[in-house]
Formats: sequence, structure tokens, C-alpha cells
Amino acid sequence: MTKKKIGTIGDILMYALLLAQMLYIFIGNNVHEILGIAFFVCLTGHIILKGWWFKTLFKKEKTSLRRFFDAITCLLMLTIIVLMLSSMGVSRFIFPNVRFMGSAALHRYLATAVLTLGVLHGGLHFIMRAKKPARAWIIVIALCAAAFSIGIFAVPYLNRHFRSVDIVRSEKLNGDRVNWSGTKPMVVYFTRLGNTDFEPDVDAVSGASLLTSDGGLTGSNELLADMAGSILSCEPVAITLTGKKYPSSYNATIAVAGDELRAQARPAIEQVDVTGTDSIILIYPLWWGSIPMPVATFLEQNDFTGKTIYLIASQGSSGYGRTVSEVESLCPGASVIPGTSIYCEDIPDARPVLYDLIKKWNSGQ
Ligand SMILES: Cc1cc2nc3c(=O)[nH]c(=O)nc-3n(C[C@H](O)[C@H](O)[C@H](O)COP(=O)(O)O)c2cc1C
Repeated sequence: MTKKKIGTIGDILMYALLLAQMLYIFIGNNVHEILGIAFFVCLTGHIILKGWWFKTLFKKEKTSLRRFFDAITCLLMLTIIVLMLSSMGVSRFIFPNVRFMGSAALHRYLATAVLTLGVLHGGLHFIMRAKKPARAWIIVIALCAAAFSIGIFAVPYLNRHFRSVDIVRSEKLNGDRVNWSGTKPMVVYFTRLGNTDFEPDVDAVSGASLLTSDGGLTGSNELLADMAGSILSCEPVAITLTGKKYPSSYNATIAVAGDELRAQARPAIEQVDVTGTDSIILIYPLWWGSIPMPVATFLEQNDFTGKTIYLIASQGSSGYGRTVSEVESLCPGASVIPGTSIYCEDIPDARPVLYDLIKKWNSGQ
């Protein structure tokens, strides 16, 4: 086989590996990590085969297209190096003890950048050789847009709808505590789990909010609340519907939540008494970029004048959405302090983040 053929097969393999890794939730963590190593092996081969490119990098007489290609290639290499570092940070199988850059959200953004720049890098090769460059540009731009959309939209969508994670609950709750000075904040949370009419066959249930924990089910925000509770040594309080619960199907819940949001419904909940505290840590999932309507009920049912509301959101890609201003307008007399918005994949390992936050809040920062 010629060097060129080996190079082409290697290149196709690298794109296939990157794409397969994007389907993380179907292949599972360990396969994802092994494929990651395979990608970096192929990349090393690619760099060795294309080593001549480095020698041409500082040549002066180049077309502007070639200069653009070189700039994209340099940017791609830089992004791959940062991706490599973040891969180790999020690794639980091959590098379980490396803990820097351990954000799944950051890892996904970097992987999206590498896939998009990788497609552009290969596409520019294609354009430089194309007989009809205009048509080649259209194809390459379309492929880059597709690569970008996979990382930014498709992966979070799959995560939200199909991901379920096994955790050992006691391990996730174990760690340092904060000795809060003054009256401890009350930890109040809302989660889909506990407010859903699950079918008896729990395996039939899909949706990112379900973390399979020691054989049971845990809502993502319930886990976050328990982490905050374990840091503050207090018992979190759930916002619980008293009327009709959400349907077992994830998609049906999304539809119901959308209807509730449009109608600005206020579903009935069990009374949560906040009179005995002057601060609340409110933990909630983003629903349609908004607070779930039962959380709005909780905020309207209580008087938060003079109190501090610390916000911890969880989400499948949208940060805080509109939730900070929503809480502010529902609780005009309160001081609303956003803490963090946690990407759903980062929830199982969020305790150190919450610890740092609560420590900071306790010191008055
Ligand atoms: C009805 C519904 C709507 C959602 N809307 C959004 C959204 O607009 N943006 C987002 O990033 N995530 C969205 N998500 C994902 C959840 O915020 C995320 O999976 C959260 O961690 C689930 O928490 P839970 O298990 O405690 O319910 C939505 C989930 C549901 C069920």
C-alpha cells in the first residue's frame, strides 16, 4: 500500500473516530476513552506522514488560500492539544486521578471545535485541488455547519433524552463541609423525579434527569441538593407537586412543561416554609430556558423580602437561560445571587464546585 493510501485511510479513520466519540451516550464512557486514544494514535501517524508541512509553514510565497489553510491547521493543532488535556481531566477510566479541566461541558465545546476545524482542514485540501472551487466551498461550509451542529445541538439533545448514569451515591456525597456562620441557608430543590408518574417498569423511562444510583433512581437536582446538604450538614427540602404529576415519558414531560410555561401556570405544591431562614439555596433544572413552573409557585407562595436567594441551575446546554431575571422579578425584595449553572453530564462530580461556592458565599463574597 502506498504512503498516500495509508494517509487517506488514516484520515477517514480519524473523522470516523471523532464522530463515533460524539455518540458518547450510545458507546459508553470506556469505549469513548479507548477511541480517544485511537484518535491520538492516528493523529500521531498523520503528523509523521505530513511532516513536510511544518517545513513549508514559514515560506513567503504562498497563495492567500494556502495561508488560510496554514492558520486553520495551526488553530486545529492548538485546539487538539487543549482537547487532549481536557480529555484527561474528564477521564474516569484511563486517567481517573487527573482532575484539572474536568468539565464535560468544556470538553464538548473543545471536541466540537476540533471536529469543525478538522472538517475545515480536510475541506481546504479538497478546495485547493477542486476544479470548481465555488462548489467545493459550498460543500465544505455545509459540512462544517453539520459538524458544529452535532457538537452544539445533537450531543446535548441526545444527552437530555437518553442518558442515564450509574453512580455510587455515598461516594458522590462524601467530602469537606462548610461550617456556616449564622443561620444556615435552607436548601430547596426541584427535580423531575419525585414529581413524575413513573411506570412500574423503570427501565422504560429515559431522560437525562435519571441517575441510576445503587439500584435506585435519583433526580439530577436531588443529587445536587443532597451534595449541598452534605456540605452544610442540613436536610434539603423538595418542591413537591400535590396535584397531577408529570408523565413518565421524557418527551411528554417536555410538551407538558412547554404548555405550562406558555400558560404561566402555577401548579399546586406542598407548602415550604421559609420564615425561619434568611437565605435559601435554590436548586432547579432549566425547563425551556426557564424555571419549572412549580418553582415559580414556590417563589410566589413565600415572602423573600430581605432574604438572599442563591441560585444553582442544572441544564442540558443553555446556562442559566432566563432564570436569574425570572427569580428576580418573582422575588422583588430579595437579593438574588447566581452561583453556577451545571451541565447535566457534570452533575455527578459537582460536589467540589458546590463546596467552593458555598465556602465563598459563607465568607460573604
Ligand atoms: C421539560 C424539560 C425541559 C428542558 N429544557 C431545557 C432547556 O431549555 N435547556 C437546557 O439546557 N436543558 C433543558 N432540559 C434539561 C434539564 O435541565 C436537565 O436535564 C436537568 O439536569 C434535569 O434535572 P432533573 O433530573 O433534576 O429533573 C429540560 C428538561 C426537561 C425535562
